Amino acid sequence: MNIYASAAVTADGYMDDASTERLIISTPEDLAEVQRLRAASDAILVGAETLRRDNPSLLVRDGELRARRRAEGRPEDIDKVTFTASGRLDPAMNFFTQGAGRKFVFSTRPLPRLEGVAEVIVVEEPLTAPLLVTELEKRGIERLFVEGGPRTLQFFARAGLIDTLRLAVNRDMRLGAQPGAPRLTFDEGYLDVPHTCTRLGAMEIETWCFHPDRSEEDLRLLRQAIELSRLSPPSPTSYRVGAVVRTSRGELFTGYTHETSPTHHAEQEAVAKALAAGAELRGASMYSSMEPCSRRSSEPESCSAMMLRLGFARAVFARYEPDCFVCCRGALDLRLGGVDVRVYPSLGAEVLEVNAHLFR
Ligand SMILES: NC(=O)c1ccc[n+]([C@@H]2O[C@H](COP(=O)([O-])OP(=O)(O)OC[C@H]3O[C@@H](n4cnc5c(N)ncnc54)[C@H](OP(=O)(O)O)[C@@H]3O)[C@@H](O)[C@H]2O)c1
Repeated sequence: MNIYASAAVTADGYMDDASTERLIISTPEDLAEVQRLRAASDAILVGAETLRRDNPSLLVRDGELRARRRAEGRPEDIDKVTFTASGRLDPAMNFFTQGAGRKFVFSTRPLPRLEGVAEVIVVEEPLTAPLLVTELEKRGIERLFVEGGPRTLQFFARAGLIDTLRLAVNRDMRLGAQPGAPRLTFDEGYLDVPHTCTRLGAMEIETWCFHPDRSEEDLRLLRQAIELSRLSPPSPTSYRVGAVVRTSRGELFTGYTHETSPTHHAEQEAVAKALAAGAELRGASMYSSMEPCSRRSSEPESCSAMMLRLGFARAVFARYEPDCFVCCRGALDLRLGGVDVRVYPSLGAEVLEVNAHLFR
């Protein structure tokens, strides 16, 4: 998933004042740009406190942007997402009543009042950003626009999940001391990376790109992994998977399911070749046609545990593992371990086709 985070802040870093009225920090030009960014996304996410304080609709209102989405075969309305521990959300909020997009609420408790107005995703474990992202990805969301408030931005930043951060700073607005007003802060050092600064009318736009776009290489090596998966013999008890390891020095090692042993997974085969060649795997990328496994009966260590142990930095795959044999949480475990996980569902149909022997 690609995560684009955005906020408007005053010159002294506030995202709102302490009053009950909504403070407009952006200029019309900036609001128009935010509309364009929303329209380029599949879903928008804000924290539950923002819904309670501002009751925003979170829609793409611009007719041209809606028409463009329609022309691209996408729904005019983007999906909406929020998350809560308290459950203090009213079904009459604009979040639920406006727009035809899907509405998702992540909650640590059941919320019967929201039945019929949203899909409530109840999580039993602590709600983490990796869990939220993984669950949204499984529901087809590839581009997520995160609009605040400050605690929500911090929630994604701490997990290292923000790809791009855009701060629109109104240099003419300064609030001074405002006890209790929401202020944007990040952990020390988080913003100490190169960023760009441009002007948009009265606003200064600061943009950080934390993870450069690597989709071209990702797609090329994923296609190679899918081709490798075709070499794997069909078996009623396993998926046919292909894998390519790319070390940080650019060396490539390949493998496919059962290549040298009837219990080996594709990732294991590729890693075995890399280790035999003396390659350094810390910081490497794993390209698998299907999500790396998290639990298996045939061997003691799962592929995701192996990748964490060896210090892989990235995991790229085309298709989440269907709940056929076990309920897989490979992507989630990898994200929780700090691995940058990227999924390319545009190639997922091919992976299903290679595994048609299991789904007939
Ligand atoms: N200037 C801007 O661009 C902009 C944009 C958006 C919002 N805002 C402002 O930001 C303010 C709100 O910001 P905020 O930081 O106070 O709140 P927030 O980020 O909007 O929402 C925080 C809420 O998210 C839920 N949450 C956070 N972590 C969670 C976790 N691990 N598990 C479950 N739920 C979790 C909690 O909801 P529960 O309390 O329900 O448990 C928490 O209170 C508002 O004043 C709004 O106007 C400004």
